[in-house]
This record gives sequence, C-alpha cells and structure tokens, in this order.
Amino acid sequence: MIGVFDSGLGGLTVVKEIMRELPGYPVVYFGDTARMPYGTKGDAAVRRFAVQDAELLMREGVEVIVIACNTASALAREEVQAAVNVPVIDVVTPTVTAVLAEDYRKIGVIGTSATVRSGVYEKMIHAADPRRRLYARACPLFVPLVEEGSERRPETAIIAKRYLNQLKLRHLDALILGCTHYPFLRRQVQAAVGPGVRLIDPAQATVQLLKRRLTEDPRLARPVSGDPHHRFLVSDSSPIFARLASRWLKRPVELELVQVE
Ligand code: DGL
Repeated sequence: MIGVFDSGLGGLTVVKEIMRELPGYPVVYFGDTARMPYGTKGDAAVRRFAVQDAELLMREGVEVIVIACNTASALAREEVQAAVNVPVIDVVTPTVTAVLAEDYRKIGVIGTSATVRSGVYEKMIHAADPRRRLYARACPLFVPLVEEGSERRPETAIIAKRYLNQLKLRHLDALILGCTHYPFLRRQVQAAVGPGVRLIDPAQATVQLLKRRLTEDPRLARPVSGDPHHRFLVSDSSPIFARLASRWLKRPVELELVQVE
C-alpha cells in the first residue's frame, strides 16, 4: 500500500497521478483537515504534524510514504524519514531534479508562506546550478480557495492576477506550482502568467520517482489484480472535501474519520 498525506485536498493531485501511472496499487490517503492549513504555521508545528501524519499512515500498514505536501516536504522530510522504517518520497526533491534537467533560466516558484520562507527550491536549485534565476512568491489565499471549491469564481482569477503580476513581468521560462493544492488552479495561474510559461506540477516528477523505486524494488509494495481499494482518511469530517475529492478523482470518495494525535 502506498501512503500519501497532505494537510487537505492538495495531495489528491499526487494521488490522481498515482492512479494514472500506477493503477494497480492501493493508496491510503490522509488529509489532516483538522489542522489545515500548514502553510501559515511555524516550522516546529509543521514538523510535528508531518511526523504524526506519517506515523498514522504506518499504523494503517503502508509500505512507502509520499509526502504530498510541499510545506511538509520543505520543512520535515528528514524528520519524517527518521520517524518511519519505510521509504519516504517528498515532492520537492524530484521536482528540483526535473527542473534541473531542463534548460530553464528564469524560474518562478509559488507556494505557501512557509514553503517560500524556507527557500527550499532556491537552495536546492542553486546548490546544483547557481546560474539559474529564481523568483518566489507566496500565495496564501490559494489553499483556502481550493478547499472551498472556489476555483471557478471570478474573485479567484482576480486574486491570481494580483499574486502573479510581478512574476509575469519577469518573463519566466517556467513556474513551479510549489504547493500541491495549486494544480486545482492551473487554468487561473496560467492565465495570470501568460501562455508562454511552462507550469511545473510536482506530482509528475514525484510519481515518476515512486514508479522507479517500485520497479527497482518490487517487494516494496505490490499491485493487486483488478481494481484496488483506495482509502481516504481525514482528521475532521468535511462534506465539501468528499464532494471535491470525488470530482477531482472522478470516482466516489468515502471518507473515514481518524484521530491523528
Ligand atoms: N498542499 C500543501 C502544500 O503543498 C499544504 C497547504 C497548506 O496546508 O497550507 O504546501
């Protein structure tokens, strides 16, 4: 079983990619809806939450964990790996590798306040190639807009334009969607930065890395024959979450309420 966690709906962008690329593998998803958002919290709180989320997934019997949250990946990937005895894949490391493999010179990064404050993308990309130019911008209202199902509301497009105005003027080659909630707003973000900017969704590089790990070591987790049974756990009941998750994954999603601490 593949364990995946995020603060809320965002990690489902990674789950969708897992379902597409690794269709036979059962997924146990945990959305920490009771403590969401993570991106406005301090570093210590995010680290504590991320370790508890991983421990919860371990109790469910997962064999590999994907931190489908940029905030937790930026601040807590080492702590999470130290806390569990299964492989942990974060969303930042494979995204950095994918970006470095392309000849992008001017790269934008958008994410939560905590992710942008951490400077994780700048640090990792510059450590490998100091010539790349990075421009980061926190977009704190994006997460609540996604969790409210407000992607298509006119005010969301206005907020996206406000947030991304400065980045648009940079004439970026690529823009990293450095929060797993943001692919829900892909269309609005693309409209705000212009059609020439390549949007990088961390879900793709992350799931490619997961796929490679599973191919290299098939004992890690096994696919089932037939349709796998996926589970969706949340720490607070939320009718809107179930509705939006079903819409995003194009399948019925039944939520299980769990206690994380
Ligand atoms: N989706 C998460 C991320 O990638 C967390 C968003 C939040 O809870 O603030 O950063």
